[in-house]
Amino acid sequence: MPNSDLYDKLSVERRSTRAYLPTPVDEPLLRQLVQQARRAPSGANLQPGCFIQITGQSRQTLSMELLKAWQAQANEPEDYDYFPQPMPMALRRRQVASAQALYGALGITREDRQGRDRQFARNFSFFDAPVALIVTMEHDFGAGGYMDLGMTLYGLMLAAQAQGLATCAIGAMASYPKLIRRCLDLSEGSRVVCGIAMGYADPQAPVNHMRTARGPVEEYFRVIA
Ligand SMILES: Cc1cc2nc3c(=O)[nH]c(=O)nc-3n(C[C@H](O)[C@H](O)[C@H](O)COP(=O)(O)O)c2cc1C
Repeated sequence: MPNSDLYDKLSVERRSTRAYLPTPVDEPLLRQLVQQARRAPSGANLQPGCFIQITGQSRQTLSMELLKAWQAQANEPEDYDYFPQPMPMALRRRQVASAQALYGALGITREDRQGRDRQFARNFSFFDAPVALIVTMEHDFGAGGYMDLGMTLYGLMLAAQAQGLATCAIGAMASYPKLIRRCLDLSEGSRVVCGIAMGYADPQAPVNHMRTARGPVEEYFRVIA
């Protein structure tokens, strides 16, 4: 297969997956994927970021504490900004479209607040994926470090895809950095970037049938002569 087709296949087939089979993922395979993701370029080759696998009692406790904090609306300052404030209308439309695709796939209507909350709560259990990762950043990197780490994250997603595995980044975790540091005994300097769910996709789950769109290439690319 020509290389461009290989990339096309992986990048088209990758999608955020929110329901998994119980089939475990072997740790040597997970290590290999992280190693492959680490081939991502980074400014001055600083290779920022860390992937922490959470298992067993630590995972159960973390998920329970996150759920409790979210239910109690115990908001915390986040370690880094994400969304533009205010959100421009064009971006808001994309946000709404992706939420509609998600809740549409689940048959959850706009008025069904409980249904949406039920789905949102699943973020905190890593969608019950066999692999749960917390991604952190050390050493007070600026925006450039997050850019580097983003490349590694996508590298991990595509490396996983190449092995028939599925993933979902979970930015919702970044809303509780203090709680996560406390539960996992991380240093004060660890910045909580996101969670990642990984495993074999459940092909029967309606939530996995959602598709998101991308804007036309003209929006991302132009030529100035
Ligand atoms: C950094 C990051 C954080 C995300 N956080 C969440 C999240 O908290 N919950 C969720 O269900 N999806 C989350 N997603 C998935 C996005 O909603 C998804 O990537 C987007 O809608 C495009 O869909 P696709 O990944 O299926 O192509 C996140 C994605 C990224 C890259």
